[in-house]
Amino acid sequence: MSKGANGGGNEGLLRQLHLRRVPEGIAGPQDFEVRTGPIPRTGEGEVLVEAHYLSVDAALRLIVRDSEEFLFRVRPGDLVRGSVAGKVIESNHASYQAGEYVLGGLGLQSHALSNGEGLEKCDLSQAPLGAWLGGFGVSGLTAYFAITEECKPQPGQTVLVNGAAGAVGSIAGQIARLAGARVIGLTSSAEKCRWLTETLGYHAAINYTEGDLYERLAEAAPDRIDVIFDNVGGSVLDESLRLIAMRGVVLLCGSTSQYAAEAMTGPNNYIWLGTMRARMQGFVIFDYADRYAEARSRMARWIQSGDLKLVEHVIDGDVGDFPLAFEKLYRGANRGKMLLRLPAASN
Ligand SMILES: NC(=O)c1ccc[n+]([C@@H]2O[C@H](COP(=O)([O-])OP(=O)(O)OC[C@H]3O[C@@H](n4cnc5c(N)ncnc54)[C@H](OP(=O)(O)O)[C@@H]3O)[C@@H](O)[C@H]2O)c1
Repeated sequence: MSKGANGGGNEGLLRQLHLRRVPEGIAGPQDFEVRTGPIPRTGEGEVLVEAHYLSVDAALRLIVRDSEEFLFRVRPGDLVRGSVAGKVIESNHASYQAGEYVLGGLGLQSHALSNGEGLEKCDLSQAPLGAWLGGFGVSGLTAYFAITEECKPQPGQTVLVNGAAGAVGSIAGQIARLAGARVIGLTSSAEKCRWLTETLGYHAAINYTEGDLYERLAEAAPDRIDVIFDNVGGSVLDESLRLIAMRGVVLLCGSTSQYAAEAMTGPNNYIWLGTMRARMQGFVIFDYADRYAEARSRMARWIQSGDLKLVEHVIDGDVGDFPLAFEKLYRGANRGKMLLRLPAASN
């Protein structure tokens, strides 16, 4: 397999993103390389998927660390792991036909062979293909089950979502609002704050990069915070812990601020959990894998009634453009789920 700068202009070739080295700081183009080669053919019991969308996931930064501690690891030289939505273009598998749309953890590449394990069919009459990697995929399902089954906010309670304008956060806040809660979002700019309140129906939004976060939170949540939906961890989480309500819930969905940190740091203000009889709880969406269809049908009804908006932030490019998109995600450029749409999507 040969190596190229960004894999562009290689129509008809397999293009794969490999990790070149363990990144320092936010990962970027210097840490990855594109390798090209012939598009593979299916063997017995296999399908060939042409990728149309690559999911740009914050958690990728965690699995490219020089560490064996986490669930997955991508080492220098490896194909980069990642979720893909695309079209079956060749099938030697009894359950799939050419022309069907699927999603799966197929790796960041233009074409992938699969034996069907972990592959999911995407019904485009329910949602467009991109949404199956976003609101109808892991991001939306995470928001749905974390709010409805774990946080269970009650009408009138206050819910704080950090990473509120991101893929998971943008949906978590809306679902908490549908449960009758008063929802406050944290994000990194005035413009994104406006989007949260004016478009997504957040009741209040705070730019965490300005002023004294604790004071601004205390002003926005005079009755304290019943649910902290934590996507980012770090100081943003820490300041909010001081305002947890009696028997409140801190749902640890993700820790984006820590994934690229050389030394990860935990919260200092945990003492408030004791005083307020609150609980801090982990969450992994895979625990709900047998209930995805149920979540999607309820979310589809909310979308139809206009109560829920799924938002994708789509960047057009080729496999080699993924690292730049990933860097942008970490700089907060996205509203909703960031996706890289490959040229094959428009064929
Ligand atoms: N538990 C599960 O099963 C599960 C499933 C899916 C995802 N997750 C986790 O959920 C979290 C959110 O994922 P996502 O896909 O929705 O990503 P995302 O929020 O769409 O994208 C990352 C966002 O994080 C914020 N950010 C980046 N660096 C930050 C920093 N240093 N401090 C604070 N905020 C920072 C930026 O938003 P601002 O502009 O607002 O700063 C950026 O837009 C991730 O940690 C992910 O690993 C967990």
